[in-house]
Formats: sequence, structure tokens, C-alpha cells
Amino acid sequence: MDASVETAGARGLGQDIANAGLFFRRWMANPLQMGSIVPSSPALCKRIAAQTKANPDQIVVELGAGTGVISRALLECGLPPERLYVVEIVRDMAEHLRAVLPGARVIEGDARRLPQLIPAELHGKIGTVVVGIPLVLLPFAEQRRFIEAIEAVAPGVGFILYSYCITSPLPWKKHGLVPKREAWTPLNFPPASVWRYQPAK
Ligand SMILES: C[S@@+](CC[C@H](N)C(=O)[O-])C[C@H]1O[C@@H](n2cnc3c(N)ncnc32)[C@H](O)[C@@H]1O
Repeated sequence: MDASVETAGARGLGQDIANAGLFFRRWMANPLQMGSIVPSSPALCKRIAAQTKANPDQIVVELGAGTGVISRALLECGLPPERLYVVEIVRDMAEHLRAVLPGARVIEGDARRLPQLIPAELHGKIGTVVVGIPLVLLPFAEQRRFIEAIEAVAPGVGFILYSYCITSPLPWKKHGLVPKREAWTPLNFPPASVWRYQPAK
């Protein structure tokens, strides 16, 4: 298994959560993988966290956590850290996340392999999946790989995706999804919407 799962420790707690420098370096290295030049703003993170649902026996999964600004907003909204699972493909970022998210489960890996990354006993026990990966920049077949991976671990739940597009960032009909634009904020660079996608019944 190429993923390493670790509980964050006390290491680097004073580190700047947004870590704009790390984010910018990764954007320079791979702009398509990052999709943005700066981390999401506090206003956008709050709106995403407000759309997150999880019963006490469920976890929340965040894909593409970057420097952890949304993860932090989820914890500030009261999600216990042990019920937050974040998946990040870039090793430096996963290490940063372990330092700034004590108690959360940080998984270094490719979200397209979600069924292998999330422990089997938690499949079907996911209240919300937050997608930070810029799916809008990917071809349809690649988008499908992420959507199918999410459906495999969280059947019927769908996911939350934030986007700078005014209209749906995903071709929802072709994906068999129902879209809902839940929120918008001008207080982000660029202004952003929060979309919820659920499998059509
Ligand atoms: C736009 S950044 C989002 C960061 C953060 N959530 C935020 O809002 O500031 C996208 C993140 O997705 C990660 N990523 C891209 N492809 C991925 C994949 N296949 N699996 C896991 N993470 C991925 C990137 O490394 C990057 O950290």
C-alpha cells in the first residue's frame, strides 16, 4: 500500500495553518494538481464547514486538503479530530497536515484509490465528503474516477465541491448527479461557490 496513515502529533503546532509559501511552491510545481494559487479564504472555509453533516457515528472525509484551512474550519465547527480523515497526494503537504491537525487522520495518497485508503470498516459510515481537488480542470473520464471512488466508500452520499465557476463545474447530467449550489462568497480569491452533488435516484 503506498499510503501512509498517521495521527497528527504535537509536532509543529505553531506552524502557520495557511502556509501560503508551501501552497505557492506546489502551485509552481504542478498548477493543474493545485488548481489555485492561494489557499481557500476563511469565509469560504466557513461556508464549506456549514454544509458538512455527520452523525456521531460517522466520519467526514476531505480530499485534497492542501495546507488544511478547510480541515481547520471543520474542527472549529465542532467535528472531533478523530472523525476527520484527510487525503492528500503531496508528501510535503501531508506532513504539514500532520503537524497542524493534531488528532486528525492524515492519509498520504491518491484520492482515486479512496476504497483502499479508507479503512474498510468505515465504508458506508461517511457523513460528508469534501472535495478540494480541482475536478473542473480534469477530463470527464478522470472526473469519473474520483466520483466512482467516492461512491464506493460513501454510497448515495455524494460530495461537496467548491469552485470559482458561476455555473456547475461538473457536467452533472452526464455523471448522473443532482447539483445544488449551496453557498457563494465574494470573500475569496477568486469568489467561490459551494456545490453539493448527489447521485440521481
Ligand atoms: C486547490 S488545492 C485545495 C487545498 C485546500 N483544500 C484549500 O482549499 O486551500 C488542491 C489540493 O488537492 C491535492 N490533490 C490533487 N490531486 C489529488 C489526488 N489525486 N489525491 C489527493 N489529493 C490531491 C493537491 O495536492 C492540493 O493540495
